[in-house]
Formats: sequence, C-alpha cells, structure tokens
Amino acid sequence: MKVLIVYHSEHHDNTKKLVEAIAGQGDVTLLNASENSNLNWSDYDLIGFASGIYYQKFHKDILDSAGKNLPLGKKVFFLYTCGMKRNSYTDAIRQIAEAKKAQIVGSYGCLGFDTFGPFKLVGGIAKGHPDDKDISDALNFFVKFYNMV
Ligand SMILES: Cc1cc2nc3c(=O)[nH]c(=O)nc-3n(C[C@H](O)[C@H](O)[C@H](O)COP(=O)(O)O)c2cc1C
Repeated sequence: MKVLIVYHSEHHDNTKKLVEAIAGQGDVTLLNASENSNLNWSDYDLIGFASGIYYQKFHKDILDSAGKNLPLGKKVFFLYTCGMKRNSYTDAIRQIAEAKKAQIVGSYGCLGFDTFGPFKLVGGIAKGHPDDKDISDALNFFVKFYNMV
C-alpha cells in the first residue's frame, strides 16, 4: 500500500518528528505542503495530513493543498501536534475531506513544545513533547490501519 503524508511543521519540527518516524514504517512518501510538487495524489492508497496547530487549525497550506489536490473518495487520516489539547483542531481539515467524500480512517494528536507568544516568556509549554511515548503511540496508531487498509 502506498501512503502519502502531506505535512507542515514550522515551529519546532514537532510534527516532522512524528511523520519521519512513521515514514520508516512502510511505503510512505512525505510531501511538504508548502513546497511545489508534481506528485499525483491519485497514485496513493492512503493520504495523511499532518500539521502543527496554528490558531486552532491545521496550517493554511495543508488546508489549501487538500482543497486543491485531494481526489474524491480517498482514505485519509489526520495527525497533529499542539501546545494544548482540544478536540476541535481537526474540524477544518475534516470538513474539506468530507466535501471530497473521503473515508477518514483515524486521527491522532499529541502535545508539541510551544513557545508561541506569551508562552515564550515562561520558557514554553509542553516541554519535551513529542516524547518517546507520543512517537510510539503515533506509530501504533499508523500501523494499525496501515495493515488493515
Ligand atoms: C503561530 C502559532 C500559533 C499556534 N496556535 C496554537 C493553537 O491555537 N493551539 C495550540 O494548542 N497550539 C498552538 N500553537 C503551538 C503549536 O501547535 C505546537 O507547538 C506544535 O507542536 C507546533 O508544531 P511544529 O513544530 O510541527 O510546527 C501555535 C504555534 C504557533 C507558532
């Protein structure tokens, strides 16, 4: 099974740590959503969207790229890192996927070191995340449906 993960990670490479660990688990291509690419998304059986959370959402480049390039009816999953946990962070990407009749196979989020804005003054929050457990949980999350899809 061929997997494409479209990602954006700009703050502390928190999300990049997760997607790079996952990329070692199978036939996984990583695509930086902010770079130009000629990849044909139809060639992939499963498409992941992975992002830090910026202003309550996946990064705009992920949302734009999904709106533009996600073919109809794909299997998709979501992955994110955030300074503070909240369930609504996948709402915007989920809406786009649903409009493309995607089958959403799962979603995984964990904390990621955050020094944005006032948090910088206190040395940041979610220090040390993603940690080894966050990464191994992400791998388990991925492997479960990678083997099923
Ligand atoms: C501009 C900006 C906005 C952010 N907004 C949020 C937010 O709304 N909620 C949250 O939990 N974390 C927020 N964060 C923290 C990041 O989501 C968190 O540090 C994440 O792990 C960054 O991932 P990255 O290192 O892959 O970019 C924000 C960080 C930045 C830089």
